[in-house]
Amino acid sequence: MKRTKIIEILKSDVPGDKFFFKGWVRTRRDSKTFSFIEINDGSCLKNIQVVADDTLEHYEDIKKLTTGSAIAVTGTLIESRGKGQKWEIQAEKAEIISIAPDTYPLQKKRHTDEFLRTIAHLRPRTNKYGAAFRIRSELSYAVHKFFRDRGFRYLHSPIITGSDCEGAGEMFRVTTLAPDSPSKKDGKPDYAQDFFGKETNLTVSGQLSAEMFALSLGDVYTFGPTFRAENSNTRRHAAEFWMVEPEMAFCDLTENMEIAEAFIKYLSSYVMEECPEDLELFAKFVDKTLMRTLENIASSEYVRLPYKAAVKILNRSGKKFDYPVDFGKDLQSEHERHLTEKHFKKPVIVYDYPKDIKPFYMRVNDDGETVAAMDVLVPGVGEIIGGSQREERLDVLKSRMNEMGLSQENYWWYLDTRKFGTVPHSGFGLGFERLIMLVTGIRNIRDVIPFPRTPNSIEF
Ligand code: 4AD
Ligand code: MG
Repeated sequence: MKRTKIIEILKSDVPGDKFFFKGWVRTRRDSKTFSFIEINDGSCLKNIQVVADDTLEHYEDIKKLTTGSAIAVTGTLIESRGKGQKWEIQAEKAEIISIAPDTYPLQKKRHTDEFLRTIAHLRPRTNKYGAAFRIRSELSYAVHKFFRDRGFRYLHSPIITGSDCEGAGEMFRVTTLAPDSPSKKDGKPDYAQDFFGKETNLTVSGQLSAEMFALSLGDVYTFGPTFRAENSNTRRHAAEFWMVEPEMAFCDLTENMEIAEAFIKYLSSYVMEECPEDLELFAKFVDKTLMRTLENIASSEYVRLPYKAAVKILNRSGKKFDYPVDFGKDLQSEHERHLTEKHFKKPVIVYDYPKDIKPFYMRVNDDGETVAAMDVLVPGVGEIIGGSQREERLDVLKSRMNEMGLSQENYWWYLDTRKFGTVPHSGFGLGFERLIMLVTGIRNIRDVIPFPRTPNSIEF
């Protein structure tokens, strides 16, 4: 008999259907002549309840099933006599696959997020993390769907690069073992070799590659891991995170903002439509206001706010911030939260930032002191997207690079696109973990990425 996943069994309408399925035991309750076993196979949040009675072969062994044990069941779908579920399975055959000893750390009780981080290899077996990672999977599909439906092409941008897109110097260097190094066996290995004949690093952003391809294929996007050696131990920064980066030819900042807004709206509607059961868990146990927030994100009109106006609002708010703001200072999380949660109570797109706090590639505005940058800020998370119109004028770009001490020889290929058929173009990067934080209400980035990489912690 073919195996069916529990998510499919629970969609059934017809009692009397026969199913074969496998999963892990969540709980077992016994009476004299039968046992109730709750089984989950990870395909959905819900468990299926199995009724196993003493007419089954090896019934004595079934009574030894512990939480975390694995089992295969053949049985018939019947209407449940108990409360809380529509269906249950009357077992006709039950085969024990493995028995988990009682040292299994996920016994039925509530565990703290801090504890579960120490067992990141097991935490997706809990309701909360199972739901978070199913949502993560659904939303990565939605990212591709959004762009595909709009005629974008998907680019695989490289992980190892020779440039520093953001110019912040927060990079992980790539090296190999020296040929005469004591190597892995014993002694201290010597990692001084540059395999590529020059310094290389893990990419901080796929943008520069995406620009090259946008100026060839039109509309493109990349979606992959990016790396930053920022030593900021915050709840929304990780050393390895996933970024979605669309890049559009013949596109200015206004259109860029429109696409960014449509993208976030699409993703939040998608999750409400496709993951209602998993979302309900977060709305119940993690953030009681979650559904209201998601409705707001999906349907409100996002504010467009020049950076200078944002600074004014913050300075007139009467609020004492830890970091004072003034023209030329970057907005901190507390400022972003004030704008989105207190002042406007919805997403805000701040644009035209001072050029001195932004990377070399952003287009300089006519005022000479700001660039055509935009950040999308959302309640609860703050900055979720950073983007800009790119500098397409060769002379302006060159003088910006000079000002910032960037070598033109290193970026000759980048400059080529401004020499040959240059056009206005724009793009942005969405932090994928921050999106998952937004839609689940989870407030620590370590809890939305399978195996988090943050300063001084790598176990898995
Ligand atoms: O604002 P950022 O640094 O922009 C760029 O990298 C541009 N090159 C993107 C582009 O225009 N193609 O990063 C973009 C987004 C941020 O808004 C944030 O959501 C996320 O990436 N991000 C991080 N997420 C987790 N951990 C970190 N350390 C992050 N740094 C940025
Ligand atoms: Mg940014």
